[in-house]
Amino acid sequence: MTAARPAGGVFVTFEGGDGGGKTTQLRRLAADLRAAGREVVETREPGGAPGAEEIRSLVLEGAAGRWSPVTELLLFNAARRDHLERTVLPALARGAAVLCDRFADSTRVYQSCARDADAPDHSRAHGAGAPDQSSARDADAPDQSSARDAGAPGAAPQMVEALHALVIGMEPDLTLILDLDPELALARGLARGGDETRFERLGLGFHTRIRDGFRALAAAHPARCRLIDARGEPDEVAARVRAAAAAHLPELAGTGAPRAGDATGAPRAEAGTGAPRAEAGTGAPRAGDDA
Ligand SMILES: Nc1ncnc2c1ncn2[C@@H]1O[C@H](COP(=O)(O)OP(=O)(O)OP(=O)(O)O)[C@@H](O)[C@H]1O
Ligand SMILES: [Mg+2]
Repeated sequence: MTAARPAGGVFVTFEGGDGGGKTTQLRRLAADLRAAGREVVETREPGGAPGAEEIRSLVLEGAAGRWSPVTELLLFNAARRDHLERTVLPALARGAAVLCDRFADSTRVYQSCARDADAPDHSRAHGAGAPDQSSARDADAPDQSSARDAGAPGAAPQMVEALHALVIGMEPDLTLILDLDPELALARGLARGGDETRFERLGLGFHTRIRDGFRALAAAHPARCRLIDARGEPDEVAARVRAAAAAHLPELAGTGAPRAGDATGAPRAEAGTGAPRAEAGTGAPRAGDDA
């Protein structure tokens, strides 16, 4: 039985590769929405509910080969189902904005990339190669995104989709995909003082395939997904996020400190380099443009 989607509320997920700014931007959007008087629930996957957090521990702790890929996929789905039942759906029923750090798209993209013939061997992506949870960079982070905890490397894509349809059966109203060159993401982590061994262990090629996977997903689901150019200062990225989210969250109009380029779409530092623009190609209304 799939989860019934209550009317009311807005379900927004933040997706993208490691270190692209998901958590940073989720928090900023949450603050903007709260300032505008909206109830906001900030949550994450895997986890986001007491039972789901226990399942998260089951998946993330212990030996790398503790679970087979299929068992791990089932655990991810169990956690997601619990998260939906206990946290997401009740919040949506109250009319809240639910902002979720990773969701089903991470499972789709990471497992697909981990199955790629050119990917690092599965044992690395699956466990030993996954970022450890004690790196300086992750010490205060609410999530430990990685090939291992974002998806279920090795499970067949058909199984991933079939299980999703069967036990989850709903998609976010809006998915914001933070798009950033993995080398820039690495530099940000290094700037913070982390050792960023995750990049070394999984390899730049792997992270590039993850990026490509999310871009393909955005192209395949233009009504739901918005690719957000994650380059530039956090303020600049936040303005793009607000613009992309305003169609679903009209109260964002008029929030945020006024910043050059927010409302006008004026040239940005990165414009013209061929990188995806936040709003490019989706054909979606851009309510935030008029803010
Ligand atoms: N626009 C930005 N410019 C420079 N540094 C940034 C920017 N946004 C975030 N950062 C920094 O980059 C690092 C990664 O950001 P953040 O944790 O938000 O990304 P994430 O996508 O949630 O990462 P993870 O995949 O590890 O969860 C953090 O140190 C953060 O402070
Ligand atoms: Mg994060």
